[in-house]
Amino acid sequence: MRPIGIFDSGMGGLTVMAAIRHCLPGESLVYLGDTARLPYGTKSADTVTRYAVQAAEALRRYDIKLLVVACNTASAAALPRLREMLAPLPVVGVIEPGAEAAVTGVPDGPIGVIATEGTVKGGAYVRAIQALSPSMPVVQAPAPLFVGLAEEGLTDGPIAEAVAHHYLDPLLATLPRPRGLVLGCTHFPVLKQTIARVAGPDVALIDSAEAAAAAVESALKEHGLLNPGPAAAPQFLATDAPGRFAHLGEIFLGEPIDPGAVTLVDL
Ligand code: DGL
Repeated sequence: MRPIGIFDSGMGGLTVMAAIRHCLPGESLVYLGDTARLPYGTKSADTVTRYAVQAAEALRRYDIKLLVVACNTASAAALPRLREMLAPLPVVGVIEPGAEAAVTGVPDGPIGVIATEGTVKGGAYVRAIQALSPSMPVVQAPAPLFVGLAEEGLTDGPIAEAVAHHYLDPLLATLPRPRGLVLGCTHFPVLKQTIARVAGPDVALIDSAEAAAAAVESALKEHGLLNPGPAAAPQFLATDAPGRFAHLGEIFLGEPIDPGAVTLVDL
């Protein structure tokens, strides 16, 4: 009956929350968006780790049974630290599930990865993909402006399309051309239609949010923690602008967020 805790730098992780709600409707969820300190993607791994530890501590106060690090940047920088800190609580990140979905979906590759600067620089996706498929060619590119576009709700139209061309044209001109493209940031799925249009029909998009939800289900089963329901109403915590979170968060969650369910917290 205890809730699952989910966190991200902002609203992007709500795409993971949506996938978890779809796949595990009986589970109660509490989501923390560190909206005051977004973006994480341009910050150092040390800073992101410090922020991630604070977010996990805040969620631990809600008596969570499992933590989902619904942020690729924080998964890349802080997963071992969070696992050590919360043990024996299971902690699920988004990189390993995303890498697994990529290798399963596009077994012959090549695989392209778009993510934040921090995730690309740390090379976590390249390592995770090649741990599963050692000779898989992987090309990656940072796409930080997608985070701002997503948080602004600018997911479609000429601006989003121009930015998508700016990032994807050089990446997809790599030879041999990538056949799969990992959306390696939880903000990116809301731009999926624009990204798909620009990438073209021969490039399969891999959504790490959906893959992470499946990993949460396996972890709950493995630890005997599945709740058949009924779920409590979802709770939301934001470190800044709870009203804006409720309003724009709807784009990421795919359903309305009750402004009364969003609490302002300080980490
Ligand atoms: N949503 C975060 C991720 O998945 C990144 C956004 C940010 O830069 O804060 O990496």
